[in-house]
Amino acid sequence: MCGIVGYVGERDALPIILQSLKRIEYRGYDSAGIACITNNGIEVYKDKGKVDDVIEKINYLKSISSNTGMGHCRWATHGAPSKTNAHPHLDGEGGIAVVHNGIIENFQSLKEELLSLGCTFVSETDTEVIPHLINHCLKNSGDVEWELKEAVKETLSRLIGSYAIIVAAKGFDGLVAARKESPLIIGVGDRENFIASDVPAVLEQTNRVIYLDEGDLAVVKNDSVYIENGGAEVKRAERLIPWTIEDAEKGGYEHFMLKEIHEEPKAITDTLRGYLAGDEITLGIDLGIEGDTKGKSILMLACGTSYYAALCGKHIIENLAKVPVQLEFASEFNYSDFVLDGANVTVMAITQSGETADTLMALKKAKRYGCKTVAITNVVGSSATRIADETIYTGAGPEIGVAATKSFVAQLVIFYLLGLQKSLAKLPEAAFLEYLEELRRMPQIAQLVLDEANGNIQKQARYLSKYEHAFFVGRGVNLPIALEGALKLKEISYIHAEGYAAGELKHGPFALLTEDTPVVAIVTHQPFKKSLIKSATQASQNVYEKMLGNVKEIKARGAPVIAIAEEGDEEVEKYVDAVVRVPRTSAIFSPIPNTVALHLLAYWAAKERGCEIDKPRNLAKSVTVE
Ligand code: F6R
Repeated sequence: MCGIVGYVGERDALPIILQSLKRIEYRGYDSAGIACITNNGIEVYKDKGKVDDVIEKINYLKSISSNTGMGHCRWATHGAPSKTNAHPHLDGEGGIAVVHNGIIENFQSLKEELLSLGCTFVSETDTEVIPHLINHCLKNSGDVEWELKEAVKETLSRLIGSYAIIVAAKGFDGLVAARKESPLIIGVGDRENFIASDVPAVLEQTNRVIYLDEGDLAVVKNDSVYIENGGAEVKRAERLIPWTIEDAEKGGYEHFMLKEIHEEPKAITDTLRGYLAGDEITLGIDLGIEGDTKGKSILMLACGTSYYAALCGKHIIENLAKVPVQLEFASEFNYSDFVLDGANVTVMAITQSGETADTLMALKKAKRYGCKTVAITNVVGSSATRIADETIYTGAGPEIGVAATKSFVAQLVIFYLLGLQKSLAKLPEAAFLEYLEELRRMPQIAQLVLDEANGNIQKQARYLSKYEHAFFVGRGVNLPIALEGALKLKEISYIHAEGYAAGELKHGPFALLTEDTPVVAIVTHQPFKKSLIKSATQASQNVYEKMLGNVKEIKARGAPVIAIAEEGDEEVEKYVDAVVRVPRTSAIFSPIPNTVALHLLAYWAAKERGCEIDKPRNLAKSVTVE
């Protein structure tokens, strides 16, 4: 998975390309490179290392006079991070340069074919076959633009796999771009145009954006954007992106992740704003479970953090709307003989990026079953939105930190809205209105955690950061939050953390509990308001007592316990070593404050350990490969 950028215009291409690359280095950061078309041909510079370091070297080494060029930041898939494996890649004659995001699955057989034709390869990448193939498809007709476009088309017809590519050719003052299963956008300027894998790359230059569709091929020049699909010209709408570049920058925080955690209240507000007017919830889409829900169910498909949001969504929707919800990892669904009744199951793909390869594949499979499909995503125009029948957008805004934070709480908000919308026929109106009132308070609740618990959380994080193993436990609607807390801690602080159902510890993990395995226990399940107590099930009322029981069992094994507990809960203090206080809510909304607290806990623990928080090792923001 990588980031690609391109520029065609009247200004100096190099500084614009380097600036754009910095904006999307979260897509890949093990190596970077640029190629610019000059009067003498194509000049390339690339190297292994962080994008910033490579850019610094380029700035130091290169002054290139060029109005057309491209850049790439890499997250290695084929061949280790190295100077030769870095993009752009060239054909044997150095007349064609390509940057690529995706995977060419049949590159080995293409490479053998090209080797037998006399080509020489210098890298271990799958990408390098592309410029060689393009070269072989050129016809020497004299019309460089037409010829390049046709050669790229012919090349693409030979490729199996996924790609977003930009192609530059000596003698052509433009770029050719194409996409299949990898995102690509065009930023539209005044006598200049930009190409990029993602919007933040172009935001400093323009907020006019064209999202290329699956199978699109574009010829981009300084004064025109020509797009074709399946051999015929197509028109794609231009969208105005409402984000400013400030939205996509750190805004004074040390890390994007901290900024994005502090934006969780706003993410909740903005997500609610889109769908809640007065007491009316309008998601504005046909979910396939309208009217009588008898016999109908939902299947949620997702990966990673989005999977945990979906697991929480299952609790929320089943509790409020009484519609059965099943859940599968997208990567498991894709390779299982799932029994699915297409006529009665609505499939929801939860993916903040809208580009996760496993989730996209799962969506396509669900469509083959004949299911109604809904994408829940944060990215307008992303691939998931184009595959699914319907889309519900979360309003989290751009999320740059690799670890998903504000997009997670925004996903939870969608589940509250979905659950409440479908609960209308089943809940007494007074209870419905009380839930709605509480949902509207969630931005303040999240803000209270940031304002009042942050100091204590930093203290607990310092403590946690000294250990190499930790457990996170919860029950019911907060089990997914324990799983999310553990995932967040492990991915950014590299502390081995396991999320567990509190009642399951005694079935094995107890053997691991010692004074060196702190346990973070979510103990926030007290029913809140009288009317909500009536509608809450007996089971959820018992969860608090059961959690206290589990905490006592853990303490008896010698493990230190940090509890996430509500303001005013004095009972819990008797059994634990430390308490992080969160505001009181009814049980079903407790995932919101608990999530904010656990995101902060992970952040501060990683900071204490001096980790590269926004770019954890071996990870990337959107996982566009299987
Ligand atoms: C963890 C994280 C990942 C993503 C997962 C799915 O913090 O961000 O686990 O949640 O890669 O990504 P999306 O939601 O874009 O499909």
